[in-house]
Amino acid sequence: MQNLQIDARRLWDSLMETAQIGATPNGGLCRLTLTDPDRQVRDWFKAQCQALGCSVAVDDMGNMFARRPGKHAALPPIAMGSHLDTQPTGGKFDGVLGVLAALEAMRTLHDLGYATNAPIEIVNWTNEEGARFAPAMLASGVFAGVFSRDYAYARRDRDGKSFGEELLRIGYRGEEKAGAHKLGAMFELHIEQGPILEAEGRMIGIVQGVQGMRWYEVTVSGQEAHTGATPMRLRKNALLGAARIIERIDAIAREHAPHAVGTVGLIENRPNSRNVIPGEVFFTIDFRHPDEKILDAMEAKLRAALAEILPPMQLTYSEARIWDCPPVKFAPELIDCVRIGARQAGFITRDMISGAGHDACYAARVTPTTMIFVPCRGGISHNEAESTSLEECAAGAQVLLNAVLEFDRRLG
Ligand code: GLV
Ligand code: MN
Ligand code: MN
Repeated sequence: MQNLQIDARRLWDSLMETAQIGATPNGGLCRLTLTDPDRQVRDWFKAQCQALGCSVAVDDMGNMFARRPGKHAALPPIAMGSHLDTQPTGGKFDGVLGVLAALEAMRTLHDLGYATNAPIEIVNWTNEEGARFAPAMLASGVFAGVFSRDYAYARRDRDGKSFGEELLRIGYRGEEKAGAHKLGAMFELHIEQGPILEAEGRMIGIVQGVQGMRWYEVTVSGQEAHTGATPMRLRKNALLGAARIIERIDAIAREHAPHAVGTVGLIENRPNSRNVIPGEVFFTIDFRHPDEKILDAMEAKLRAALAEILPPMQLTYSEARIWDCPPVKFAPELIDCVRIGARQAGFITRDMISGAGHDACYAARVTPTTMIFVPCRGGISHNEAESTSLEECAAGAQVLLNAVLEFDRRLG
């Protein structure tokens, strides 16, 4: 078998080069989807792919597909990729590594003139993070038929701007209908975003699937009033009600230890003035667990807590589950390709389930899909301090390339 080696330094240099786009003073990235920095990194990515002779197609959700032809044009492409958008205080590796490692794999094939059986594609999925437009994985979701395009276009950020308008504004609303682009397989490399690989001294996570995720939005309403003149017994304090619910959400997740997690990550207190009793609070809830029945139980407890805690405080509320992404199992055939690819490269591996959501979850609905994980320092992610070494990034890229080539060989 021909041993195709990726160039670790070239991959690292590309990671550091793109990390200038949307760089934050603390060494992280703020490259929210469909903002100007997102456009800039897309332009960079497109130019790099075109320099390798790849054609770049963009669908009507802004998903980008850079294609290198194979020997058999009739075969559906083998895709590898992830996302270039980040959290508002994101790191340099979440998502970015998966796209740039795919670019490095493509550069390696190009340099060596290696002819694959199937076309090979790099995918950059739009709005994986869901930080600006909820829910996460919105564009891979449309690609997979989980959401309609109109639903996606109508999603609004917290400033009221719509996904559809912003996609058009940055010039990345393509012609192709999302989902019309058939893939033969999809491999996504990502940092683990948790502590397991580092703690166990293993280089590669062979990802078996992803836990289930549910997002909710809650608005608690009370009454704005003067902080100095309103006696405690007459208050309808929406923030106090929200605080008691937030405490309960943490408790619900702990009741389903060790696998359940529950988080309130976004909160808006209105009018947010130090001498006004809060009249309205909006907040989000993120529940995750590998078992849907446990998620059902957590949801029932949440609804019971809202009904029990808020009305006695003279507060009203509205709540909605805005996202339900069930647990996902990846394709055994592709997992096998990753195992072989990691063995060829000589890395110590571990089978694992992803705690984070990924576009691979939705891709898996329409094409055989799997993921590869590499460690990140201290398991820290969604943090400007997120850190993965040159060697770890290179290991992931090498296993990605090996896995793709193993899958491709089986087509020959
Ligand atoms: C995506 O980053 C998620 O898991 O929320
Ligand atoms: Mn990610
Ligand atoms: Mn993320």
